[in-house]
Amino acid sequence: MDIREPMDSEALFDFGEFPTLETPRLYLRELAPADAPAVFAIRGDYEVTKYNGGANYTRLDQAVALIRGIANDYRDKRSIRWGITLRHDPKHVIGMCGYNYWLRKDARASIGYDLARAHWGKGIMPEAIRAIIEFGFQRMGLKRIEADASADNMRSVRVLEKLGFQREGVQHEQFYEESESGDLILFSLLRRDYRPPAT
Ligand SMILES: CC(C)(COP(=O)(O)OP(=O)(O)OC[C@H]1O[C@@H](n2cnc3c(N)ncnc32)[C@H](O)[C@@H]1OP(=O)(O)O)[C@@H](O)C(=O)NCCC(=O)NCCS
Repeated sequence: MDIREPMDSEALFDFGEFPTLETPRLYLRELAPADAPAVFAIRGDYEVTKYNGGANYTRLDQAVALIRGIANDYRDKRSIRWGITLRHDPKHVIGMCGYNYWLRKDARASIGYDLARAHWGKGIMPEAIRAIIEFGFQRMGLKRIEADASADNMRSVRVLEKLGFQREGVQHEQFYEESESGDLILFSLLRRDYRPPAT
């Protein structure tokens, strides 16, 4: 798929009907209240939340509140987050990814993501992020996608590097977690640099 500028006649994404996305292995869809147990299973895992700030969930109602907050942010046209499912099992959410903020004036937005541990190491998140990158460049008209990762979160750093994100710098001792300060690496992917994988 070529990454092209949104055409003049093509309105930018306006948070109308939720945009489901498909990849060879995945189906990215809107989260629903019924996904709370699956979201709880993801966010209840310390290994998943370790680098994300905030403790792992201990109660199902935290997942219920997260899904409600995501729906409210979508309704208010603030941000968008997809539930990641396998194509053959679209009812079961195994992860989430999306844009945390979208600064329309600057045509830039920031991504975030997490995946259930049972699915790590199979290239699932790069595949999901590629789909939302293309959505961001084509439908949101982004020129720049931002991301950050704890310097210790080698899996996340690797995902961003595989997708072509460039390191822009390090914010030293940017956060304090579990009695230790940590560094945050800042990344960006510019539309003018993005090369979609050959299909
Ligand atoms: C980060 C995360 C989304 C990665 O998703 P994934 O689908 O497993 O990604 P991949 O399958 O591409 O695997 C990650 C890569 O990291 C590499 N990796 C794994 N452990 C590593 C380590 N200790 N050091 C360096 N690289 C490592 C893997 O080898 C793989 O790279 P490769 O394809 O070149 O072999 C997933 O681990 C996750 O959800 N983590 C918890 C939440 C999180 O950290 N979110 C991001 C916050 S910024």
